[in-house]
Amino acid sequence: MAHEQEKEAAARASLQFIKDGQVVGLGTGSTAAYFIKLLAEQVKNGLRIRGIPTSVWSRELALSLGIPLTTLDECQEIAVTVDGADEVDPQLRLIKGGGGAMLREKIVASATKQLVIVADSSKQVPVLGNFPVPVEVITFAQALVAKRIRELGAEVRQRTLGDGKPFLTDEKNHILDCRFGPIRDVEGLARQLSDMPGLVEHGLFVGMAGVALFAKGNQIIELRR
Ligand code: A5P
Repeated sequence: MAHEQEKEAAARASLQFIKDGQVVGLGTGSTAAYFIKLLAEQVKNGLRIRGIPTSVWSRELALSLGIPLTTLDECQEIAVTVDGADEVDPQLRLIKGGGGAMLREKIVASATKQLVIVADSSKQVPVLGNFPVPVEVITFAQALVAKRIRELGAEVRQRTLGDGKPFLTDEKNHILDCRFGPIRDVEGLARQLSDMPGLVEHGLFVGMAGVALFAKGNQIIELRR
């Protein structure tokens, strides 16, 4: 419950980055959901923005709350995106994709001027890697990609749903959750993963986040890169 309050507080703090007339990227996950709900209140009070969702899930939430939306087809420049993260290190490198949306999240982040990460205090870590790095793969290449990632030293598991069926991303791909333990060379690992044919995207976000807002009890901790 304390974490829920922190998530909401961090999301609330991110509203200061949103200005009238902007195109705003809408993140995915439970912390981003607080942001989307708070943003919808501001829209009801007259704020004019257009949102670009990072998943089918955040699209549906935003639509249900009356946030006007646009798409990357119409607009390729996003002023601010507010999104959650699974881990954030002191250099604002991230692990994302606990919700399985890191492919669209990274695409939206790459088109964003200011990526603002909102999180509860448990997400702030000294070193990335306790949380498994999600990797989206096309099914044809899954076994090969899993083997190559195991050779890098990770424990690899296919993400499944409660009924044992494979988790499917918005693009209908599978996810491998790859537990590396402490990642000493984040940039190097990100490059090695990106270079694997058949691997669509991974959850290491390097050099993308500009601001991280962590709520810790009643306090907001702001980190900038
Ligand atoms: C979604 O794919 C993720 O990148 C989320 O942003 C991340 O998992 C954080 O989610 P919570 O805010 O629910 O912890």
